[in-house]
Amino acid sequence: MAATLPAFSAPRCSCSSSSSPRLPLPRFLPSAQPPAAATLLRGRARLQTSAAAAAAAVEVGGVKIAREGNVEMSILRSDVVKEGDPTNNVPDTIYSKFGLQLHRRDNHPLGILKNTIYDYFDKNFSGQFNKFDDLCPLVSVKQNFDDVLVPADHVSRSYNDTYYVDAQTVLRCHTSAHQAELLRDGHTHFLVTGDVYRRDSIDSTHYPCFHQMEGFRVFSPDEWSGSGMDGTAYAAADLKKTLEGLAEHLFGAVEMRWVDTYFPFTNPSFELEIYFQDDWLEVLGCGVTEQEILKNNGRTDNVAWAFGLGLERLAMVLFDIPDIRLFWSNDKRFTSQFSEGKLGVKFKPFSKFPPCYKDMSFWINEEFTENNLCEVVRGIAGDLVEEVKLIDNFTNKKGMTSHCYRIAYRSMERSLTDEEINDMQWNVREEVKNKLKVELR
Ligand code: DAH
Repeated sequence: MAATLPAFSAPRCSCSSSSSPRLPLPRFLPSAQPPAAATLLRGRARLQTSAAAAAAAVEVGGVKIAREGNVEMSILRSDVVKEGDPTNNVPDTIYSKFGLQLHRRDNHPLGILKNTIYDYFDKNFSGQFNKFDDLCPLVSVKQNFDDVLVPADHVSRSYNDTYYVDAQTVLRCHTSAHQAELLRDGHTHFLVTGDVYRRDSIDSTHYPCFHQMEGFRVFSPDEWSGSGMDGTAYAAADLKKTLEGLAEHLFGAVEMRWVDTYFPFTNPSFELEIYFQDDWLEVLGCGVTEQEILKNNGRTDNVAWAFGLGLERLAMVLFDIPDIRLFWSNDKRFTSQFSEGKLGVKFKPFSKFPPCYKDMSFWINEEFTENNLCEVVRGIAGDLVEEVKLIDNFTNKKGMTSHCYRIAYRSMERSLTDEEINDMQWNVREEVKNKLKVELR
């Protein structure tokens, strides 16, 4: 699966059948790089960005985004979008997602799914899990990567994969970014839900902002000492039992299997797959937390398990939602189909407008990346772009490489006119030429 993709970028599932959409997978899959290569920044210092964001709270006009204690925080455009600053690669399209917090809307598929997972943990662990769903998505590089042992040379740290506000601050690319701080704050059982951000290509299952839930549970020695198992085996067994129960809570009595994998923050690491609608579907990534993370955060003698799951990925399957852009739709014909507490009500497409395809070919240069292209296209077409797909690729005798991309434009809500599509395509061509410095053919 995904053998041709760079390690650690959000891999694509190429093995799924046509009945099963390709869905966003966790990014931290087996690396070509040995995990031991990590150079780690240690320390307990609280994130500078949090302080900066908190300070910004008193300013007027910002997007209200989170609460720390009783303080409503605001994030201003100038906090995250810095045109002309080479250490910043956050576009306005991303800033526009800030504060929308789809996962906190009880009538939205993502909120319904979150609440259903909460119900499972409440029922089975009598309220032991603390829930966080409004932690600030601006985090330090240390929180996002170092604290969870992501190797220094890991591709996920690149500007091509992650949104950087400045050299030390990113938009979190996973909810694992909060593990260390919550451990240090003394939490032993927690669920963290939030919006996460990744630069990526464009298709019906990938969107640069999506939502994850992280689960974490710490065990103390007295919990496993009588079990005849060591701490790691005990935590792994508890993890599997807990997550099998969760999968059953969400999907009913389905066939499940565990697949060994690699994540920088866990060892051993697993993925849980379920057999659903005639295909194996990856539900989540998880594992027994690396001892180093516990040790660095005041839990030396403990063991822990952790998991991370993508809410869109599961909601698309559970609600039959065919395109990830729909989660962002305010169209009543979409929003009115979902209501609090009703997991798995099947979405009925209200109409299907035809896509319009436009091809563009250009000679690439050394810096060219598909993620950069997609960002340019999204900057112009917004959610009207459904897919950007490489359909031809060759290198001539002079060593110049040509790419041809097919852009699919389609609105979820209305018919697009020829004129607006032609205008968009014209602007895309201009911006691709000017911003990416490629030679159009
Ligand atoms: N952070 C991972 C990702 O985004 C998902 C994940 C996997 C989280 C395993 C975990 C874990 O806590 O144990 O790809």
